[in-house]
Amino acid sequence: MAKNKKTTKTPEVISDYNGYDYKKIFWEDADREYEDRADRLAIRKLLPEHMKNFVDIAGGYGRLADEYLPRADKATLFDYSKTELKQAKEIYGDRLHTKAGDIYDLPFKDGEFSALMMVRATHHFKDMKKVTKELYRILEPGGVAVIEVANKKTLPRMIRYLTGRTKINPFDRSIANLTDISKNGFYNYHPKYMEDIFRKQGFEIDRVLSVSNFRNQHLKNAFKTNTLVRLENGAQSILAPVRFAPSIYYRLIKK
Ligand SMILES: C[S@@+](CC[C@H](N)C(=O)[O-])C[C@H]1O[C@@H](n2cnc3c(N)ncnc32)[C@H](O)[C@@H]1O
Repeated sequence: MAKNKKTTKTPEVISDYNGYDYKKIFWEDADREYEDRADRLAIRKLLPEHMKNFVDIAGGYGRLADEYLPRADKATLFDYSKTELKQAKEIYGDRLHTKAGDIYDLPFKDGEFSALMMVRATHHFKDMKKVTKELYRILEPGGVAVIEVANKKTLPRMIRYLTGRTKINPFDRSIANLTDISKNGFYNYHPKYMEDIFRKQGFEIDRVLSVSNFRNQHLKNAFKTNTLVRLENGAQSILAPVRFAPSIYYRLIKK
């Protein structure tokens, strides 16, 4: 990933994917088929079957566009990185509209969309209150937001904390900045912290899924991807109440 940079408009760090081949480096050259399929399972369960006007926020190169394009009359992919948007255009052409900008200041009108999705992006954002406010603003009343949250309170982190191997307390609701923010800006969030923000903003939490439950190299080595994906499919709802997977997916309704 290229270096983060600050803009005059936004004091928060922007994780700049310009010039970074996220598609090839993160997905195609890495062993992440299980994670990709886990995301897709969740999205299929949470997105409305039919959407009038949909936007994929921080959608990258449109990895998940083939999941939402068949359900949307109109679909837009929004991202900060022109590199990602160019790749998306090359793949999907006119079927997918693209728009560049910064999450903290979305270039969309109030109530413009009937549904939106934001996946694998919260770990880049320091101010989730501000982000949530923007997402709420661009949805129409009754609109649906499917948001994936990078979870701070995962099972491995709980074990590491309880055995004294990390000082980051996963039970504490404050934001975890897991690595050096000036380099890559990875934030993780406690589910209760995010749920509080969603509710205070005016969203109703309609459904929660626990996703990427088996994201572990030993499990990936021991089991076939198809087996893990079958287990994942069942686990997403069953494990949702405990909220200890690396990804927690929310379907929110704008009240
Ligand atoms: C990990 S990628 C996820 C892409 C896609 N949602 C997916 O799941 O494949 C994170 C994306 O967030 C975008 N991003 C980071 N900071 C942003 C900001 N401040 N505004 C808009 N997009 C941003 C990056 O350009 C990148 O494409």
